[in-house]
Amino acid sequence: MEETLVNDKIEERIRFWNNRVETLQAADLYFYNQPIEELHGGVRVQVRGREMLMFASYSYLGLIGHPKINAAAKAAIDEYGTGTHGVRLLAGTLKLHRELEETIAHFKGTADAVTFSSGYVTNLTAISTLVGRHDVVICDKLNHASIVDGCLLSGATLMRFRHNDMKDLERCLKRADPAVTKLVVVDAVFSMDGDIIDLPHVVGLCRKYNAWLMVDEAHSIGVLGKTGRGIEEHFGLENVIDLKMGTLSKTVPSLGGYLAGRRDVMQMFRHASRAFIFSAALPPAQAAAAKAAFEVILEEPERVEQLRRNSAQFINGLKAAGFDTMRTETAIVPVLCGADEKAFSMVQHCQHEDIFVLPVVSPAVPEGLARLRATVTAAHTPAEIDRALGVFERAGKRAGII
Ligand SMILES: Cc1ncc(COP(=O)(O)O)c(C=O)c1O
Repeated sequence: MEETLVNDKIEERIRFWNNRVETLQAADLYFYNQPIEELHGGVRVQVRGREMLMFASYSYLGLIGHPKINAAAKAAIDEYGTGTHGVRLLAGTLKLHRELEETIAHFKGTADAVTFSSGYVTNLTAISTLVGRHDVVICDKLNHASIVDGCLLSGATLMRFRHNDMKDLERCLKRADPAVTKLVVVDAVFSMDGDIIDLPHVVGLCRKYNAWLMVDEAHSIGVLGKTGRGIEEHFGLENVIDLKMGTLSKTVPSLGGYLAGRRDVMQMFRHASRAFIFSAALPPAQAAAAKAAFEVILEEPERVEQLRRNSAQFINGLKAAGFDTMRTETAIVPVLCGADEKAFSMVQHCQHEDIFVLPVVSPAVPEGLARLRATVTAAHTPAEIDRALGVFERAGKRAGII
């Protein structure tokens, strides 16, 4: 007979999450984990047999399905097969991995780069390799969860400063013992709010207080800078970041993460980071696709410009309709709804009108700041953005948001 323990905390957690999901499903308010049946250019998708316009994808430059990238992935399968059957340190490193790392280093203007099997794991391993128990790691309060988890895993003392608040960052740097090693970690573009870190000031403070700087460029590659090279290009700075981190799963339509920086630092990661030593290498197709994608970003700079135009059209349209898009300056566009229920209701209206968008609710964001996190890409046409704006406006009115 199946028995559940009355005071078992694990059972309690299972019940909590199952109740939450089932309550939303019963009210037709559950839109997570929907299988996408067809993906046409990443923007026009088929879900539950319906054609929908995608406004929740991180394919910022619309590179998913790009012929050159697809061809590179297929050729890699023909040459190497589908797996690497090993960790990078031992038998898992292919010529392709080194070519990808050279391409990334060239793209980011660094001496070297190293890749891992996901962006999440890259942050975990980077931070926990760089700092340990007697060091200090300082984070923006809105940094991505993988950065927070990396800090916790490292065992270093974690200090957090108010979002993008340079006075508060300086307060943390001052409070840390000057003799202790300090690492500052920030997102380039914040994944919930779409705003950009004040990099020039962060760099100035790191230099003043002798701290290392690591920047997560998951949402800035292909998005920031005239040619999409990221946050340094955006601010007209060159090599002011000690460790540049990024993912291969957003603008770059593949999987994995990278670190780019000094050659000796990369050498250390190749021998001392646990994700490199204890986890399998990127599959050949993914490595080849990622390499081709970096090349395409540089070969087709018009995509970056188109993304900028599309973001402006989308943000301005939402503001004109009366929405609060918070402090976004990029293709990540939060649409503030307030209470969780309003965000769910807004999404329900949008999805019923075939706009694929999803809510972000507590605890991912503070209570009362539930929102839609909409994303626009270079592959949307101005007419598609206008159609979405019309749906958002109707949905916002029905949900009582505008
Ligand atoms: C800022 C940031 N860093 C890291 C990651 C993790 O990257 P990946 O999805 O490649 O594991 C994400 C993904 O959502 C992210 O938004």
